[in-house]
Amino acid sequence: MTPQRLYINIDHVATLRQARRASYPDPVAAARLCEDAGADGITAHLREDRRHMQDADVEALARGARTPFNLEIAATDEMTRIALRLRPHQVTLVPERREEITTEGGLDLASDPARLSTCVGALRQAGIRTALFIDPDRDQIDRAAALGAEAIELHTGTYCHHPGDPRHLRALQDAAAHAAARGLAVHAGHGLTVGNVGPVAAIPECEELNIGHSIVAHAVFVGLAEAVRAMRAAMESARAR
Ligand code: PXP
Repeated sequence: MTPQRLYINIDHVATLRQARRASYPDPVAAARLCEDAGADGITAHLREDRRHMQDADVEALARGARTPFNLEIAATDEMTRIALRLRPHQVTLVPERREEITTEGGLDLASDPARLSTCVGALRQAGIRTALFIDPDRDQIDRAAALGAEAIELHTGTYCHHPGDPRHLRALQDAAAHAAARGLAVHAGHGLTVGNVGPVAAIPECEELNIGHSIVAHAVFVGLAEAVRAMRAAMESARAR
């Protein structure tokens, strides 16, 4: 089997910062830690409403990430302009609705194909590897190939939300094989956790996983004790003076 890349989506490091409009935690510092821990790449989604990542964050990540940077954006003129200026290693085009909590469902490549084609064409011309985030659906895969994307990212949300229902894993397996046969690289992500990643990681055609929320959430638990100890030490050293 070909090796599989793990790209860490660090959006929710910025979510924590934005909850207080504070200066910490810094997503670039988080990217460094992920890279030091073996991440193959860093992913961030610059949303239209800037709810987590800010323009300065993706700018700093595009310049400062040591591993390939994957910028997730909607296929709008504004975002395409930003991507062309930052020139990340990879852009993943995602659907976006302002009121959604997170990306719900994949892109519908049948709606507004002219806009998608212009966006994919501009990114490709700039030498940026381009992936389209879609549901595991053969028609969408055929459309992705026709649009000239290098890769698709399969939306794993339905699989994750229906544990124990084998149809959703089969849909991902079938989609991955179909995409690879059409010459597309296969990525996958959304909702993956340590508990459900196994069957997706085992799909032979799947060469890249994008995982964020569960890793940042897990980090709270593996790091909280150390953070409490650091605060206690800071207090005690002040009182010992
Ligand atoms: N892939 C895409 C295209 C996404 O939009 C997201 C969420 O921003 C992810 C992967 C990561 O999903 P999660 O945070 O649930 O791991």
